[in-house]
Amino acid sequence: MVFAVSTTGGGNGGFDPGSIDPPGDAGRSTDPYIYHRSVLLSEVVEHLVVRRDGVYVDATLGEGGHGVAILDATVPDGRLLGIDRDPRMLTIAERRLADFAARFTSVHAGYDGLIDAANSRGVDSADGVLMDLGISSRQLEAPGYGFSFQSNGPLDMRFDPASPLTAHEVINTFTEDELASLLRENGEEPRARQIARAIVRHRPIGDAITLAELVIATVGRRSRRRIHPATRTFQALRIAVNNELDILRKGLQSAVQLLATGGRLVVISYHSLEDRAVKQFLAREAAICVCPPEIPVCVCGHQPTVRILNRRVIRPSLTEVNANPRSRSARMRVAERL
Ligand SMILES: C[S@@+](CC[C@H](N)C(=O)[O-])C[C@H]1O[C@@H](n2cnc3c(N)ncnc32)[C@H](O)[C@@H]1O
Repeated sequence: MVFAVSTTGGGNGGFDPGSIDPPGDAGRSTDPYIYHRSVLLSEVVEHLVVRRDGVYVDATLGEGGHGVAILDATVPDGRLLGIDRDPRMLTIAERRLADFAARFTSVHAGYDGLIDAANSRGVDSADGVLMDLGISSRQLEAPGYGFSFQSNGPLDMRFDPASPLTAHEVINTFTEDELASLLRENGEEPRARQIARAIVRHRPIGDAITLAELVIATVGRRSRRRIHPATRTFQALRIAVNNELDILRKGLQSAVQLLATGGRLVVISYHSLEDRAVKQFLAREAAICVCPPEIPVCVCGHQPTVRILNRRVIRPSLTEVNANPRSRSARMRVAERL
């Protein structure tokens, strides 16, 4: 196996990561250059690293926090391929992982393109694949992404700045019906129709704060739920702009395909739609039979590809949640390739 020296395929030369520095200190790690605190760090290493000389893929490299932990746990021979859809994150991770250049390489790609990305770096099978879904604290808080209703950034929400659809286009060009179903399906928003109608009435909408205030004016500031009233709207937009759920299913399939026998798939999700997609995917892959229940004798010939290792999801400890409140919604699932 050839393992190429670390470079991105992202073509982000000249990019200054400092330009996506979020304001303030909330959520910062102890390294001044690193903003995101990796979730379930020791649990990921414990469940992912099956051999010290293994080849691992971090399919959501982010700022490289899990990547560092995997490389530290696999000294001296373990190797890591890091993938991220956001070339700005790769720039940050590559700088952080520069000391590991002999054992680390990275590729700009979505995890739905995991197999091609791995093959392009000479990796044809892996001992572990990590998918830490969602967004990093830096992406959430840096105004340029427009992910947060607390920022006054543009309504962008793309992980990859080269991808065609922005949240601005969705908000300002989709019909009321399209917006309502998007909010319902991707945000599980009970007031989807009212919010969609208000959006259409108040267009054009240019920035995240204006949208968040419109949602508050429509559904009220005080919610029985503990979350901000615009949380589901922003989640729905993010999922739609990045086609997250379809890409997640393809990514999971590719990860299982890439794993060697005995290799581990570790997935951390942060909201119920993601977790449901992961749970359903693993249940099907682990099933001996996938025939519809009304068929009395199995005719599907389905062969299980994985064994689920944790029947109950793994969640952050109270200590972790107290130190990093953003970890509170994390759910980790682990499977072993058969
Ligand atoms: C929660 S962060 C990962 C943080 C990382 N584990 C760490 O410790 O720093 C999720 C990352 O996944 C990336 N991402 C989102 N969708 C992706 C996709 N389809 N393919 C690859 N990366 C994706 C985001 O750009 C982000 O950097």
